[in-house]
Amino acid sequence: MKVGIIGVGGIAVGRHIPAFKQLQDDCVIAAVSDINIERAAEVANEHNIPHVFANYKDMFAEVDAVCICTPNKFHAQYAIEALKAGVHVLCEKPMALSKEQCEQMIKAANEADKVLAIAYHYRFMKEAQAAKRMMEEVGRPLVARVKALRRRKVPGWGVFTNKDLQGGGSLIDYGCHLLDLAIWLMGNPKHVQVVGSTYNELSRTPNQINQWGTFNHETFEVDDHVTAYITFQNGASLLLETSWAANVKDDQEHVSISGTHGGISVFPFELYTSKNGVLLNTEAAWIDGEEDFSKLQAKNFIEACSKKAELIVKPEEALQVSAIIDEIYRSSQASTRS
Ligand SMILES: NC(=O)c1ccc[n+]([C@@H]2O[C@H](COP(=O)([O-])OP(=O)(O)OC[C@H]3O[C@@H](n4cnc5c(N)ncnc54)[C@H](O)[C@@H]3O)[C@@H](O)[C@H]2O)c1
Repeated sequence: MKVGIIGVGGIAVGRHIPAFKQLQDDCVIAAVSDINIERAAEVANEHNIPHVFANYKDMFAEVDAVCICTPNKFHAQYAIEALKAGVHVLCEKPMALSKEQCEQMIKAANEADKVLAIAYHYRFMKEAQAAKRMMEEVGRPLVARVKALRRRKVPGWGVFTNKDLQGGGSLIDYGCHLLDLAIWLMGNPKHVQVVGSTYNELSRTPNQINQWGTFNHETFEVDDHVTAYITFQNGASLLLETSWAANVKDDQEHVSISGTHGGISVFPFELYTSKNGVLLNTEAAWIDGEEDFSKLQAKNFIEACSKKAELIVKPEEALQVSAIIDEIYRSSQASTRS
């Protein structure tokens, strides 16, 4: 399979290009495209990629699949155009800027009968894969807790704090990963109610400490801290907290689920069960599986394109994450207005 990369910034060079290169028996990176054509040519040169295109559309005739690594604003448009041209798509997260855009992407994939995958790579981590295999120990999931917290780490590079290009801040960029992971582990129940609050007071205050570079506090317009409460049709509920800039002791990545039989925590992997009158805590001494989750993600995509494997991150599931994000932002706006 010939793969093309659209947008050769941090995630393309740091994750997807190395991952696809490891799958040389099954695919080859045949082309790159970027609005920064000089950077595209440099990346092509570094990685022996034969074709460089200033216009991503010219790539479609050369490749069987594309990996979309542009700012979020362009995900939907580029994915739909690629799918309409008969090209499979692996699109970076979040899937798009709104639920409606996600629906249009899925429609295009179905009409073209092509694969549309979204790069929620946390699902490919060993701990996450192990948790998915162990969910029967949990029984029916009742309550999920999700934390994706960074202490004073607003990304000060690229376009992460640009609302027009990214659609939001810590939630759409970071919290989405752990939210996606929790809902997948819960078995993808449909959500019914979403209440959320978003904050950005810290990042709008002058002279704040930030560990990840600098940004303009005067023009900072995205969320840097978000909380939400989500309920599902099956009665389960999920508590979410995510931040780029929390005043907390440590960064935290936490997904835990309490169910009818037991509980599970993903990072680190632990099981909480009971047997013969004993409450048990089980840690993993070792987890089988591939360490390189980026390679697993690329492999699953390539195999899904050739119908050798089922897609792990289905677009309908990524759509639900985007729908919940939309609803959190709307809920917060509505509560500040009232
Ligand atoms: N999976 C993850 O953990 C993860 C991590 C970081 C970023 N991302 C996602 O990856 C995407 C890119 O992020 P990044 O960190 O690589 O950003 P980046 O700014 O480093 O790179 C973006 C690249 O896209 C190019 N570009 C911008 N507009 C374009 C357009 N209209 N057409 C073609 N190319 C265009 C830029 O020139 C740049 O080279 C975003 O959607 C982001 O959310 C995912």
